[in-house]
Amino acid sequence: MLIKLKLSNIYFSLLYILQYVLYLSAMTLQKVSQEPFRIVIFGSDGDLSFRKIFPALYYRLADGQVNDGVEILAASRTDRTQEEYIEMLRERLEKYLDSPDKKVFNKLLKSTTHLCIKKDEEQLKADLMNWFEGSEEHVRIFYLATPASAFGTISDMLLRYDLITPVSRIVLEKPLGTDLKSSEDTNSTVAKYFDEDQIYRIDHYLGKETVQNLMVLRFANNLFERTWNAQHIDNVQITVAESLGVGSRGGYYDQSGALRDMVQNHLLQLLCLVGMDPPLILNADEVRDEKLKVLKALRPFTKETIKSDTIKGQYTRGSSAEGHLPSYLEDIEKYSSQTETFVALKTYIDNWRWEGVPFYLRTGKRLPHRYSEIIINYKSVPHNIFPEKKNIENNRLAIRLQPEERIELLQMVKIPGPGGYRYKPISLELDYADHFDDRFPDAYERLLMDVVRGNQTLFMRRDEVKASWAWIETILVNWKKQKMNNELYEAGSWGPGNKIMNEGHHWVTSKHIEKIQKLKKDGN
Ligand code: BG6
Repeated sequence: MLIKLKLSNIYFSLLYILQYVLYLSAMTLQKVSQEPFRIVIFGSDGDLSFRKIFPALYYRLADGQVNDGVEILAASRTDRTQEEYIEMLRERLEKYLDSPDKKVFNKLLKSTTHLCIKKDEEQLKADLMNWFEGSEEHVRIFYLATPASAFGTISDMLLRYDLITPVSRIVLEKPLGTDLKSSEDTNSTVAKYFDEDQIYRIDHYLGKETVQNLMVLRFANNLFERTWNAQHIDNVQITVAESLGVGSRGGYYDQSGALRDMVQNHLLQLLCLVGMDPPLILNADEVRDEKLKVLKALRPFTKETIKSDTIKGQYTRGSSAEGHLPSYLEDIEKYSSQTETFVALKTYIDNWRWEGVPFYLRTGKRLPHRYSEIIINYKSVPHNIFPEKKNIENNRLAIRLQPEERIELLQMVKIPGPGGYRYKPISLELDYADHFDDRFPDAYERLLMDVVRGNQTLFMRRDEVKASWAWIETILVNWKKQKMNNELYEAGSWGPGNKIMNEGHHWVTSKHIEKIQKLKKDGN
């Protein structure tokens, strides 16, 4: 008896110690995000830095997630004094921050040092080493908001100056190449200096709250996951529509086009999240393994399918409620460009889950509204028992990613009152704004904090990038082989997306978008 008691005492003590150890490690983990870190932003006078990276730092600083001891080095090739840079930063940030807190704002400016990297080697090395002094243990983030052509030179410089520590991370902005070979070249270059677990390839769509909610919607709701397959789903539609033209980014965009700029990354990532199997657990490699399987199962395009299953377009002059809209060629002031500003395509994920289910993707500039939506169109009921035999509309799940984030589930409902079974489709709606008061953090805030914490789940692994480019290349190559030209569409119209739909399918939107369109049409 006594022995038994003693054993159970030991058992409980061990349990207690274990709990304490777990508690301590949880505290340490929490502390990681609070620890100061150093971030060097290359390309710090570019639009992305002012519009996304610095605001992300500001909001996380304001929320207390970024420690007061953070230090930011704003590196660029332009020679400016510290005062000139900070003044420019202040002016630009005032445009992008919504009534900033003065104290936090000043703290951000105070933590920022400007460095012109176009200077004598020895001097540059000394400046960088000085700036890093005393921070050997801290996480170092090298954020490359520069063209990919600079990745090698910058990484090489960091290595030569001995600045890459075991807790250093490099963040790469898209575009990572323009085809399979160039993207592999870029990745191989960076791999010479950094291990894969130090490389964070940004696709900002993965940082959007509603995109992350796709995981929760699918894998925390038995209701959906049970029917998330070819047996129940008829087709899937992913739309990322933009109302703006190319703006001041014409130089970049004209080299890229909608396929490389949007489909290769953002739309394919969305497709992966819709199409993937549940990962065993929620960790970076498990999630990315599942996404990779989807990319590998994507049906490649061929000379035979390219014309029927893809379409590319370019906007011409048109109009919107605000007035006249110029053509793409006028926007970029280059009158012979063949670059596509619109792409729509139909593809299949050739695996057990999705056999025969078309996935329709479309994206374009200068469409009537800016919105991103995923529509899951369910199959029809097997048999209509109702005497009226009136059309039963199929269930439809609309996931609105932006703006006005919401989820709608279209279902048939009986119209109240006598007179038999009359029914009509009505949407169950979950509007994020009704349930969550907090401000929605921008994608960059989440992604930046993930880099600080060393969580790669929302970043693309090298093999994912490779698989997506390999598939994109089947489009690029066959567009060329078949000499496919752009179909022209008027700016402010929906573009030529219908041709690729299978019989009986058409592009649908959430009820919300339908309402907005109607209001616009009625002149409200
Ligand atoms: C970028 C593209 O990656 O995404 C742009 O280069 C596009 O052309 C932008 O406008 C769209 O992002 P968001 O978050 O505004 O939908």
